[in-house]
Amino acid sequence: MRSPYKDEFPIEKHAFEFLETETIMKPHLKHFLAISILAAIAGCGGDNNDAATISDAASSRVGPPLDPVLVAQGKEIFRTDTFGDEAFWTDTLHMNTVIASAVDPTTALSVGLKVDAEALPPAVVQGIQNGSISLTAPATTVALLKLNAVIGVKGTVETINGVDTLTRVGITCALCHSTVDDSFAPGIGKRLDGWPNRDLNPGAIIALSPALPK
Ligand code: HEC
Repeated sequence: MRSPYKDEFPIEKHAFEFLETETIMKPHLKHFLAISILAAIAGCGGDNNDAATISDAASSRVGPPLDPVLVAQGKEIFRTDTFGDEAFWTDTLHMNTVIASAVDPTTALSVGLKVDAEALPPAVVQGIQNGSISLTAPATTVALLKLNAVIGVKGTVETINGVDTLTRVGITCALCHSTVDDSFAPGIGKRLDGWPNRDLNPGAIIALSPALPK
């Protein structure tokens, strides 16, 4: 599947122009951006045909062939690395406490967060379909975070006194640079990496923070 946003959001073109600006970029940053961007590009169109998407990307880009190992690492970084931004989202904004107490999945979806349907085990899919798993209970959001199913949001869930507790939360590139195909329900579906999340409402998300004055 090709991105309908391709012309509006030509990440490949700009990304590679950027990488050519050697003189103003530190080598490690250049390397990091290279693998992240390759991940974004390789992710376009889904996961089940990585080889095909890598070669698609390769045919429209300038430069040496892509190393699939590097692409896989970049994809992992793009999807899951917070670069330690828990320092902001947890230590400063305390988003973990508000998520656990007040952000049910319906609220999360309403501020533009997306759920990766492929990260949901069959029992959870069934529970959502038959209503036995509540989409208006914050504990469900914690369960989804534990499953790594909330795109671009990385939660650390620890068992404290027998209860799953969200102790840390941070964000990754995928929060803004991935979306889903809505195949399960609006906001829930297969990951589309490298597509902009046009529903994300960062202001509304940050405003949920208990650390901010009302
Ligand atoms: C909070 C949302 C957010 C997060 C998180 C985020 N980005 Fe972005 N990114 C944006 C927005 C918005 C733009 C477009 C800025 C513009 O064009 O004015 C952008 C632009 C870019 C571009 C340029 C695209 C182009 O077409 O020129 C690249 C490359 C990029 N981001 C990579 C990353 C990487 C890699 C990460 C993770 C380390 C990341 N971004 C995390 C919001 C985000």
